[in-house]
Amino acid sequence: MIIAIDGPAASGKSTVAREVAKRLGYKYIDTGAMYRAVTWKALKEKIDITKADAITALARGADIEITDLKDTQYRVFIDGEDVTEAIRSPKVSAAVSTIAKIGRVRTALVKKQRSYADTYPNMVVEGRDIGTVVFPDAEAKVFLTASPIERAKRRQRELKEKGHKLEVTTVERDIITRDKIDATRITSPLAKAPDAYVIDTTDKTIGQVVQLIINLVKKS
Ligand code: DC
Repeated sequence: MIIAIDGPAASGKSTVAREVAKRLGYKYIDTGAMYRAVTWKALKEKIDITKADAITALARGADIEITDLKDTQYRVFIDGEDVTEAIRSPKVSAAVSTIAKIGRVRTALVKKQRSYADTYPNMVVEGRDIGTVVFPDAEAKVFLTASPIERAKRRQRELKEKGHKLEVTTVERDIITRDKIDATRITSPLAKAPDAYVIDTTDKTIGQVVQLIINLVKKS
């Protein structure tokens, strides 16, 4: 069974998707990490992120590995380099939407995402276009939302834990900008699948959201 979890930046997708995967014993796939890994590499190689040809060549040639540790913990590698922490930096976050807009980059990464289904029949896959494009036949589809300020506060806490101190208003502005790019791009924009179950996580605990999804999975 495939459980697709989509939603805007910092809507709680990662935490919730991992917990659902853990509870059900499913494989967890973070597709955002793949776009981030390509972005990290482009920045490292000083490739202009608006140059679609160069970025596409990079994405096509890159060897992206997401290795499992225990309990849905994972590490992300690109061409053998461990970028698990580096891909969460504010610099990567600021550039990733520009790269995720490139249709041919998406095609390359979507192919890889679909190939996981050959190995893992049961997966929780998290992203922006999972229920609409990557796995339109997923048995369970969830779309998570939360108010921009709540999402900014969550992201600010996460960043602080990683040593990046930013004002909440700065984080909120960055999130809104990223959502706008993600939702208005031509190729597979951030969108709710018509058959997705919407959960507003603003006033809910992680446990409550996880339980709602588990209930949905049991029904489907
Ligand atoms: O979930 P995240 O914040 O790590 O995602 C990083 C970026 O990647 C985000 O700006 C949108 C993009 N993304 C995407 O376009 N499609 C996906 N399936 C996952 C992420």
